[in-house]
Amino acid sequence: MAHFPPSFLDEVLSRTDIVELISRHVQLKKSGSNFMGLCPFHHEKSPSFSVSADKQLYYCFGCGKGGGSFQFLMEHDGYSFPESVEYLAEKAGMEVPESAAPDADEQARRKQALVLLEKVANQFSRVLASNEGSEGLEYFHRRKLPDELIRRYRLGFAPPGYGFLSRSIGNDEHSLAQLEAVGMMFKGDRGYADRFRARVMFPIRDRRGQVVGFGGRILDQGEPKYLNSPETSFFHKSDLLYGFSEHRDEIRKRKLLLVVEGYMDVLGLAAHGLPVGLAPLGTAISERQLREILRLDDAPVFCFDGDRAGRQAAWRALERMLPVLDAEHGPRFLYLPDGEDPDSLVQTEGADAFVRRIENEAKPVLKTWLDGLKFLAGSGPEGRARMAKKADAMLAVMKDDYLKQAWRQEAENDTGLTLKSQAAVDKKPRPKISSISPSIPNQEKFIAALLQKATRIGKLLSEKNKFLLDDDGLNLIYTRVLELAAAGNGIVQSLLLEFPQEERIPLWVSQSDISDEEYEKLLLLMQERFFHRLMKKAGSLEETERCRIQWDEIRQKLEKVGH
Ligand code: UTP
Ligand code: MN
Repeated sequence: MAHFPPSFLDEVLSRTDIVELISRHVQLKKSGSNFMGLCPFHHEKSPSFSVSADKQLYYCFGCGKGGGSFQFLMEHDGYSFPESVEYLAEKAGMEVPESAAPDADEQARRKQALVLLEKVANQFSRVLASNEGSEGLEYFHRRKLPDELIRRYRLGFAPPGYGFLSRSIGNDEHSLAQLEAVGMMFKGDRGYADRFRARVMFPIRDRRGQVVGFGGRILDQGEPKYLNSPETSFFHKSDLLYGFSEHRDEIRKRKLLLVVEGYMDVLGLAAHGLPVGLAPLGTAISERQLREILRLDDAPVFCFDGDRAGRQAAWRALERMLPVLDAEHGPRFLYLPDGEDPDSLVQTEGADAFVRRIENEAKPVLKTWLDGLKFLAGSGPEGRARMAKKADAMLAVMKDDYLKQAWRQEAENDTGLTLKSQAAVDKKPRPKISSISPSIPNQEKFIAALLQKATRIGKLLSEKNKFLLDDDGLNLIYTRVLELAAAGNGIVQSLLLEFPQEERIPLWVSQSDISDEEYEKLLLLMQERFFHRLMKKAGSLEETERCRIQWDEIRQKLEKVGH
């Protein structure tokens, strides 16, 4: 990951207003010293999503999501951390420092490539609007795409023959090599040649709306029907979804997301007032794409053909979905009538009927799972046993313990058999020491308590019993808190910057006040564990003894505070 100097990140944040950033997606109302609105991360009717202009943080009291401006872009818009930094820096009119890129050359190449692809997209759409592209335009019209939509999605046409790009972009060696590097040309026996010829073109954009590749469809007959840009360092098919940057906001607003198979399905739906479709790029849907989809919507609808192949594809998607499923999401599966796809169906029956069809026919993921198991297993006692075995294997990859438990019960009802892997659930009751915020473990609570009062950290820095925490990940954060406090920095903001993937930080920050009394207890508990461990690991008798004395001392104190 690119390493940005902390001073640079500070500067970016100081020029960013989180209230403005979030207002573009969420309607915020001033309430006391904060702003409140409907949470964009979960479904709610009354606002529990708060944004603090002073702290430049957001936090949802309903679902617990929270963070700063970078986290918002990552969580809400699906940016990576570097992407969110670059985006805000650009908005603030700042240059990303050269040293921030691990490979400045690579960055520069990427930038050039994007500029080039932008030009190529413009050329294709220019041609589509000209005489040379009349075939393409006719094709789109035949497929009932209105001109306004053709412009909005920047559809285009790659004319027949091999020389279009060298004519329109440049035929010097540098341009040609660049066009090859971005997958628009290939080098054959007789020099460079256009990859896409006589095809209508669909530019594929990344999360930020930049063109990173193309899909091209043959007019009428021919092979392959669809051709896509090859994988490059910035065009990863399994990371991208067609329609994402165009439809993200609309999907959130309408709380409707349709996952479809192809470009034309996405566009056909949009042409009928349903700009909520997303499609993978001709590859099977990946876990990364599924995460993205679930982040965008609580109950996305996956559309599949009603035939055998469609059912198989649905089953594959379901299997892939298991590790990313949780109780907060209820994806649905819609099987379409034979021979229809969303594009053809919305043409014949219209958008309203299509939406009604979803409401009436889309099957919840659990039902899809149980039906699929039943179908695969066949009938009779052996069938039930096979079904139980398969269910067990599939449950094993699920990560949400409670959802897993609920699904297991359903599968047990259906098979009449007891499933095995009961174990993992209920295994680790979380330690708790008081009723204030029982939901987070002590080590985390200890850090939360530190973040609440800087004086606690000050005192800790002068403690004689220096100690570490059990958990390596938490230790990293804990030691960083001490360092930052020593340097007198804004601790929470810096933590959020340095640990952008650490979702627990906002949770800690939002804990209700942890009393000094409770903090003292937590502190002793941390020390007790540390010296106990130290004692166990000691190399000599003498050392063991020394640790034991410290340990005993702490245990006595703990007893005194009634533990
Ligand atoms: P379909 O052939 O099912 O798409 O391919 P479609 O949208 O119904 O196509 P039209 O309506 O005939 O235009 C679905 C998707 O699979 C990928 C493309 O991404 C396409 O959108 N695909 C299909 C390929 O990548 N290559 C192919 O040769 C065919
Ligand atoms: Mn089709």
